[in-house]
Amino acid sequence: GLDVSKLLATTGQVALDIGFVNTASCTSAITYIDGDAGVLRYRGYPIDQLAGKASFLEVTYLLIYGELPTADQLAEFDSRLRRHTLLHEDLKQFFRGFPRDAHPMPVLSSAVSALSTFYQDSLDPFDAEHVEISTIRLLAKLPTIAAYAYKKSVGQPFLYPDNSLGLVENFLRMTFGFPAEPYEVDPELAAALDMLFVLHADHEQNCSTSTVRLVGSSHANLFASVSAGINALFGPLHGGANQSVLEMLESIQREGGDIPAFVERVKRKEPGVKLMGFGHRVYKNYDPRAAIVKQTADTVLDKLGGDNQLLDLARQLEEIALSDDYFVERKLYPNVDFYTGLIYRAMGFPTRMFTVLFALGRLPGWIAQWREMIDDPSTKIGRPRQVYTGETERAFVPLDER
Ligand code: ACO
Repeated sequence: GLDVSKLLATTGQVALDIGFVNTASCTSAITYIDGDAGVLRYRGYPIDQLAGKASFLEVTYLLIYGELPTADQLAEFDSRLRRHTLLHEDLKQFFRGFPRDAHPMPVLSSAVSALSTFYQDSLDPFDAEHVEISTIRLLAKLPTIAAYAYKKSVGQPFLYPDNSLGLVENFLRMTFGFPAEPYEVDPELAAALDMLFVLHADHEQNCSTSTVRLVGSSHANLFASVSAGINALFGPLHGGANQSVLEMLESIQREGGDIPAFVERVKRKEPGVKLMGFGHRVYKNYDPRAAIVKQTADTVLDKLGGDNQLLDLARQLEEIALSDDYFVERKLYPNVDFYTGLIYRAMGFPTRMFTVLFALGRLPGWIAQWREMIDDPSTKIGRPRQVYTGETERAFVPLDER
């Protein structure tokens, strides 16, 4: 890539690139995307070779430390995580303060932000031990926080983590279990969720990851940076899309399932009407993650007895869109979120938890990218320029003369 900043600095010019469509903000060795070919690789490994073969824990290790773990390294990593799943009792009280119907995403980001107050002695981004313990704490505690955000939203009692279970199993138990009642984790459900987390684990410089890096570039600590990333993910054009897709499918269903009529509304660009779960800034081809999710949706929905009517609707919608000139010309294909909501729903998650699940999956990517940025001596504080379009200089008019 061409480093235009030095070139332009000599002429006093700035490059205007609204939405950073074609501006690289950093160099990175973590994730590779070829949007035209529909290729995604983590640390060089193609996503289709990792999904279903490597566990979320292995992929987390790969993204953060750069290599797949050996069996010993994985066991050690797993046991360190299991020791840190508990939340401080005072942090647990925070959840009680939110309104009964609070959306779990802002609850999640608030609790992650609050971690900075509980671990004030280990927040130095340039102390390797601080970074390492913050990494372990965040990875271990986010599933507990997410499960508590869910319990809060449905008014049920919290469960302490059971550290005889792995990360995904523990999260499922804390989410769907009840205190003093046995909860059998369904291994197929856990494996499917684990695989979906792998698919979401990193996606280079997307909106939330760029936010994590931008906040971190001011040397804000890991918890503060990731909390900001969670808020960026909340938006419906980013992680919030998985919730919006299901709401869109349900509204089409309610209105009689007339897909061509809905597609026409999208094409007319009616305000607020988009084909959610379609389109991507980088992929101008089928999102490789969407292809894997689509296959999974079939098997998971068969097994868990999900809403096959909605799945059929989604399939028809995809078929019609992919053969329509509007979508073909604009290279709009399903993205990872188009089918995930249907699977999450079949697993028993309410719609408002979908983006929280995305956050759980994306956490290793945010951490890996934050650490890469902090370790890179060429990192500078992120500080975009602007092209000023306001008034030219004018004279002040006192209040009584206006
Ligand atoms: N439905 C209908 N039209 C669309 C859609 C869509 N989902 N996405 C893009 N377009 C159209 C735009 O209206 C535009 O048309 P025009 O050239 O006639 O003006 C053209 O396609 C290009 O779209 P942009 O908005 O310029 O593309 P951009 O790269 O800025 O946006 C984005 C990408 C935000 C993902 C967009 O496709 C979108 O809003 N999709 C729906 C939301 C969604 O699914 N988000 C999840 C993204 S993936 C993720 O975060 C996991």
